Amino acid sequence: METEHPENIYIPSKTSFEEKIDRVSDLYGQQRLTLEDAAAFLDIDESEVCSLLHQRGMLPSYTVLVLGGAGFIGSNFIHRLITRHPNVRVVNYDKLTYAGNIKNLTALKDNPQHVFVQADIANYESLRKVFETTRIDYIVNFAAETHVDRSIHGHTKDFIQTNVYGVFNILSLIREFPVTKYVHISTDEVYGALQKDDTYLFTEEYPLSPRNPYSATKASGDALCLSFYHTYGIPVTIVRPSNNYGPHQYPEKLVPYFVHLAQQGKPLPLYGDGKHMREWLFVRDNCAGIEKVMWQGKVGEIYNIGGGNERENIEVARMILHLLGKPQSLLAFTEDRLGHDRRYALDSSKIQRELAWRPETSFEEGLADTVAWYVNNYEWILESLRRGALYEHYAGKK
Ligand code: NAD
Ligand code: TYD
Repeated sequence: METEHPENIYIPSKTSFEEKIDRVSDLYGQQRLTLEDAAAFLDIDESEVCSLLHQRGMLPSYTVLVLGGAGFIGSNFIHRLITRHPNVRVVNYDKLTYAGNIKNLTALKDNPQHVFVQADIANYESLRKVFETTRIDYIVNFAAETHVDRSIHGHTKDFIQTNVYGVFNILSLIREFPVTKYVHISTDEVYGALQKDDTYLFTEEYPLSPRNPYSATKASGDALCLSFYHTYGIPVTIVRPSNNYGPHQYPEKLVPYFVHLAQQGKPLPLYGDGKHMREWLFVRDNCAGIEKVMWQGKVGEIYNIGGGNERENIEVARMILHLLGKPQSLLAFTEDRLGHDRRYALDSSKIQRELAWRPETSFEEGLADTVAWYVNNYEWILESLRRGALYEHYAGKK
């Protein structure tokens, strides 16, 4: 939308704060000011602007269908959306697989802005019921099978079911029940692997070259989304984040798994030579980017979201041991993952340029906060492991 830059707002001196809010409300109502600019102008937080505008009845109400909102990134996203937007109601549709945990949303238990539905996106009839009974404005789809090791060791069908067939169901239902935008959460893994010395990064135009069953199903989901955009005009926007870390990540993934093992004084199993590289992105920075894409991203477009923190796995493991005060002798090397991608790294200049998003959290700061969260919520890890029946088989490495 065409908006007015805050510096262009004419405000006579001696204007009271109340009057400034009235002026901002008017401009916002005329779509001449974004929330971000209103916050900058009033010198308050965006969530406070929302709350003030909401009290004045200036904000339209939105319903956001979040698919897979009880998992790691989805639950962090819902917390962000609800605490910042009193005018947003979230319908959280999640199957609660081993990776989903409704306790990730305990803080919203009595909050009328959050409605939970336990069901499967691969079940067309269940999903259809939500579309039939709810007027949905936005959809953000986090629902997926997400662990590469599981996709390799015998669960590929579950990945196809959710990551491909589930996405097909969503797209088919949007054809029948139109929405403003469908934000599809993809991954950097669809581009395939870089080598350590490669000097280029993956841009959104880079051809897809998935190399493990997980990334193959994610690339299929992306292809379906783009085909529905081009064929039927479905308003899809795709985001491709790099490796996330932060609170509430299922402890089969590198960071929480290694915190868990280190806490128990067990060796940390680095696959191969431990020199595979990932670009780490703090989950809250990712959620901020996804939110920007939801409100402002262009339909039919793809946005990479990279944390800008490239690290070898061995370095991450060393940092975790250091933060926990555990000996470096706990580092161990095991057989390599089959088809293990050497390096992922994104060019995120598009979202930085077009939507003014940037990662705010340094890896040192984010990792310290994350490790502290797992230490303080160790029961959360143990409970997650009790729920995931296959955990020992895959993460315990044979
Ligand atoms: P997660 O495994 O922590 O959570 C997935 C959630 O989806 C769980 O709550 C689970 O119960 C739910 N779910 C699974 N199958 C479902 C189905 N059939 N129907 C309904 N709900 C279902 O995953 P995450 O790490 O939060 O990842 C979210 C999304 O982000 C995924 O699409 C993933 O591919 C993508 N992604 C993740 C990362 C990362 O580092 N975690 C990086 C890039 C992209
Ligand atoms: P993971 O967290 O599974 O994410 P992804 O495979 O989606 O990048 O793994 C991150 C990196 O850590 C990856 O290179 C594999 C490696 N890794 C290990 O070396 N040991 C482990 O026990 C795990 C779980 C991962």
